[in-house]
Amino acid sequence: MPRAKILVTGGAGFIGSHTCVALIEAGYQPLVLDTLVNSDARSLQRVGCITGLQPLLLRCDVRDGAALDRVFAEHAIEAVVHLAGLKAVGESVADPLAYYDVNLAGTLALVQAMGRAGVRTLVFSSSATVYGDARHSPIPESAPYAAVNPYGRSKAMVENLLADLAHADPRWGIACLRYFNPVGAHESGLLGERPHGPPANLMPYISQVAAGEREYLLVHGADYETIDGTGVRDYVHVMDVAEGHVAALRHAAREPGILMTNLGTGRGASVLEVVCAFERASGRRIALRIGPRRPGDAPAYWADARNAQARLGWRARRDLDQMCADSWRWQAANPHGFDDPVPPMQPPWLGADLQIFHATSNLGHSNA
Ligand code: UFG
Repeated sequence: MPRAKILVTGGAGFIGSHTCVALIEAGYQPLVLDTLVNSDARSLQRVGCITGLQPLLLRCDVRDGAALDRVFAEHAIEAVVHLAGLKAVGESVADPLAYYDVNLAGTLALVQAMGRAGVRTLVFSSSATVYGDARHSPIPESAPYAAVNPYGRSKAMVENLLADLAHADPRWGIACLRYFNPVGAHESGLLGERPHGPPANLMPYISQVAAGEREYLLVHGADYETIDGTGVRDYVHVMDVAEGHVAALRHAAREPGILMTNLGTGRGASVLEVVCAFERASGRRIALRIGPRRPGDAPAYWADARNAQARLGWRARRDLDQMCADSWRWQAANPHGFDDPVPPMQPPWLGADLQIFHATSNLGHSNA
């Protein structure tokens, strides 16, 4: 049976490339649409190394309706996983129009092109940021929209746009995935997150301190009312998040309407708990300094993860120790990210079937 083709916008990025791995492992063929503004095409070579199938890269912008029409005309696409977008909170405050343009107008152009092509199955990459400073954790999906920055508001607007679309036209099947804090890397050590410049997020920063690339971690506040005074978040392994997209795709393909669901573990971890877990995983000491609170940070929040289990049959399977171990394996093997050559060893994580497939596929070439 030929693999069903799934268009993955933003598929060369951190979550997108891991989602490609999960889609291929589930029997789909991802086609990646990406501008590469915030990502690296070499991530797709790594996807090829892991799975034996390198996704075709279509280098174009989701706001370009004519280009999208050509993509849908040339490829028999059955569904779309839409991750392309801007995601830096501070940047969204400084340049809100860029966020409404790329995130909101980009999604509008995409669903219009999907409608013209008769493709009406969509998984959308949303964020727990739509809840803003939710006061009570665990946060259920019924919590009100209360985003506190343009990035979060752009995600909430897209969710509203998609809900209106699904209510107006029952042929659509849509799932919006509200990620909490995706971290970690593929267990092979071949694929992970490599931010441009100093990392803004906790896990990549800790990884670079462990590697000796940065001197110490600045803890943004240790005077919150939490277990040890530091901020608490729901960290979720990126491969669990990736597998959540596969579950959501299956759901959206069989059930019309719109589903909003959290993707989190349902457990919070403090900054110091993450640091301790990373020290155990890496065998390295993480030097710390306690600084002031970071403006805009909430003290603590984590997901109510029951809806994803009930509606998608999905739950996070990997714990914080594995998130840290996999982040460290990626960091240690690729200190320069995708600039490092692919390790030449025979990958032990490939099963026998995949090794045969690997040997016979056109690795390094497009598979469209
Ligand atoms: N932290 C530090 N030092 C650092 C970086 C982070 O102490 O150098 C702390 C933060 O104060 C926070 C925790 O580590 O308590 C996690 O911070 P991250 O920056 O990793 O993640 P956030 O929860 O702040 O942000 C994430 C996404 C955003 C999204 C937000 C809400 O990165 O895109 O969740 O969903 F908007």
